[in-house]
Amino acid sequence: MNTVSEKIIARHLVSGEMKKGAPITIRIDQTLTQDATGTMAYLQLESIGIDRVKTELSVSYVDHNTLQSGFENADDHQYLQSVANRYGIIFSRPGNGICHQVHLERFARPGKTLLGSDSHTPTAGGMGALAIGAGGLDVAAAMAGRPFALTMPEIIGIRLSGKLQHGVAAKDIILKVLQLLSVKGGVGKIIEYFGDGVLTLSVPQRATITNMGAELGATTSIFPSDERTLEFLKKQQREDEFEEIKADQDASYDQIIELNLDELEPMIALPHSPDNVVTVASVAGRPIQQVAIGSCTNSSYLDLCTVANIVRNKTIAPNVSCSLSPGSKQVLSMLAENNKLTDIIKSGIRLLESTCGPCIGMGQSPASNAWSLRTFNRNFYGRSGTLSASVALVSCETAIASAITGVITDPRTMDYEPALDLPYYTIDDRSLIQPQCDPNAEIIRGPNIKALPKNEALPDHISKKVMIKVGDNITTDDIMPAGAKVLPYRSNIEKISEFCFMNQKAAFHDDCIKEHGGFIIAGSNYGQGSSREHAALAPMYLGIKAVIAKSFARIHQANLYNFGILPCLFKNEADYDMIDEMDELEFKNLHTIQGDTTLVVMNKTKGRSFMVYLPCTAQQAEFLLKGGLLNTLKD
Ligand code: F3S
Repeated sequence: MNTVSEKIIARHLVSGEMKKGAPITIRIDQTLTQDATGTMAYLQLESIGIDRVKTELSVSYVDHNTLQSGFENADDHQYLQSVANRYGIIFSRPGNGICHQVHLERFARPGKTLLGSDSHTPTAGGMGALAIGAGGLDVAAAMAGRPFALTMPEIIGIRLSGKLQHGVAAKDIILKVLQLLSVKGGVGKIIEYFGDGVLTLSVPQRATITNMGAELGATTSIFPSDERTLEFLKKQQREDEFEEIKADQDASYDQIIELNLDELEPMIALPHSPDNVVTVASVAGRPIQQVAIGSCTNSSYLDLCTVANIVRNKTIAPNVSCSLSPGSKQVLSMLAENNKLTDIIKSGIRLLESTCGPCIGMGQSPASNAWSLRTFNRNFYGRSGTLSASVALVSCETAIASAITGVITDPRTMDYEPALDLPYYTIDDRSLIQPQCDPNAEIIRGPNIKALPKNEALPDHISKKVMIKVGDNITTDDIMPAGAKVLPYRSNIEKISEFCFMNQKAAFHDDCIKEHGGFIIAGSNYGQGSSREHAALAPMYLGIKAVIAKSFARIHQANLYNFGILPCLFKNEADYDMIDEMDELEFKNLHTIQGDTTLVVMNKTKGRSFMVYLPCTAQQAEFLLKGGLLNTLKD
C-alpha cells in the first residue's frame, strides 16, 4: 500500500522512521551540480578531504554562466573540469546543455535518489527518480558518502484523468497546480502524480511538471516509472536502466487533487510570482515586446518541435524580440537533422546557446517597462535583469503563438501539426568528459578561485542590530541576485557579498561591515526560489547571526543551518510588527541549544522581549554551535 515515493525512500532509508514529519536520512545514489553553485560545492568537497566521490554517479554541469567576457568564468570552468577529473566526476562542457535536460536524457534512472545543487533537480522525477534540490554543501557531503537528512514529507497525490487537448500543454498542468496550491502549497510535501492521464504524457512532458514543482516549495515531485519511461530510455539507448515502479493500487496519499486534462485550458503566470495564474484567454490581446523560449522547464525536442511546427512559414511580429535556447546539444542536433531548425531560423527567432541564458538573467533582459512572455519557471521581480519589466510564464505553444501575433494569444486559435516524437534519438556523449580520477591530477585555480570563508563557532551571547527587515516571499534572487554582473564572482564571496540585498537595501553590505553583522527580520516563506547557497554564505560572511522569520522555504532554511546562521521563527507573528531596522536585539544562553528550542530575545531599543522558536534536530544543533556543517565535517 505504498506510493512511488515511499517505495524509493524505504529502499534508501539509513536512519529514522518513515512517519510524516519525522527526521530521516537517506542514501544518495547520484549528484549533480551546476557552475553557479558548483565551484563552492567542490571547494567544500576538497576541504572535506576524500580521495574520490563515493556516489554511484556524479556530474558537474556548466550551464548558467557561460559568457566569457572576462577571465572569471573561464577560470571557474577550468577549475570545475580539473576538480571533476581529480575526484571521479563526469564533466559536462559549457554548451552541452542545461543540467536537468542533459541529466534526464543521459543519466536519470527510475528508483534512484538524486541530490542536486539546483532547486530544479526534481526534473528527474519525470523519470521516476526521487530527485531533490539542496545547497552545495549538502551535495558535497553526499559526494563524500554522507546520507542526506530531511523530514519525512507528506505526500499529495494528483490524479490525472483525460488527455491534453489541442493547444494545451504539460506546462499548463503545472501552472494549474500552482494556481490551486500556491508557492507555499508544497512545503514539506512530495507531489506524486497518478491516474489514467499519466500514460498520455511522455517523459519530457512529465519532467516539465516535476521541474516546476519546485515553485510549489515541494521537497520533490514524481511520476511512476512505466511503459512511457521504458520508451524514453530505449530512445536514449539506456533500456537496461529501466525498472517499473508504480504506486500500489491501495496506496494512500495525505491529500488527493483531481485534475481532468480534457477540461484544462492554456494558463499563464502573471508578474511577479509563478502562482499568480489565470487563463490565457482572460488576458488575450495584451501587447508584448519579448518572448523567450527554453530553460530547464521547456526545452525538450518535443517542445521545440512544437514551436517549429507553429512558426513554419510564419514570421515573428515586428514589435517582438523572440529568442530560443535548446535544452541540450541532443535537442539541437535533432532539430537540425529533422529540418525543424530551418523553420525556427527563417521565422526570425534568435537562436541562443544550449544554456540557461535569459532564465538566469544572462542576456536578453527585456526593454524598460516591456512585457516578456517566457517558457521558464520563475518570474520573480528583477530576475530578468530589468526591474521595470513584467515577466509572465507560459507554455511553448502560448509563447510562440503570441510571438507571431505580437499580443498574448490563446494557442487553441492556431492551426498546426502536433509535434511527433522521433523513433530514435541522436546519442553523442563527446561533450561529457569522463574523469581520470587520478589523485595526482592537477587542480587548476585561476585568480577568481578564492579560499572558502570560515565561520566562527556560535557565541553564547549575541547583542547586535537588525540589518534589514523584509516582507513575505523574499526569494534567494532578492537576497543574492544573479545575472551577468554578479555571477562571475560566485567563487569570490568577499566580492559577491557586495551585491547582497542590493535591490532591497543598497546600504545592507556597508551597514553589515560597519556593525560587524547582525540580524535579518523577515515575513513568511523567506528564501523561496533557488538552492543558491550564496544567499546564506554571503550573509554569513557579512556576520549575520540569525534570521527571524514567520516561515522559511525548505532549501534555504537547510542552507542557514549549514552555514551556522540561526533560522528562528516568531512564536507570535505579531512581534514582527514591533521590530524596526537598526533595533538592537540580544540572544543569550545559545550554548544550551541541543534540539528544538524556544529562546527569549530582548529588543533593547524597544525595551521589550519576545519569543522565538528554533526548530532543529540534534545534528543541526551541532552545526549551529560549531559554526556550520563544514566545521563539523572537518572535525
Ligand atoms: Fe537554469 Fe533557469 Fe533551470 S537558471 S537550471 S534554466 S531554472
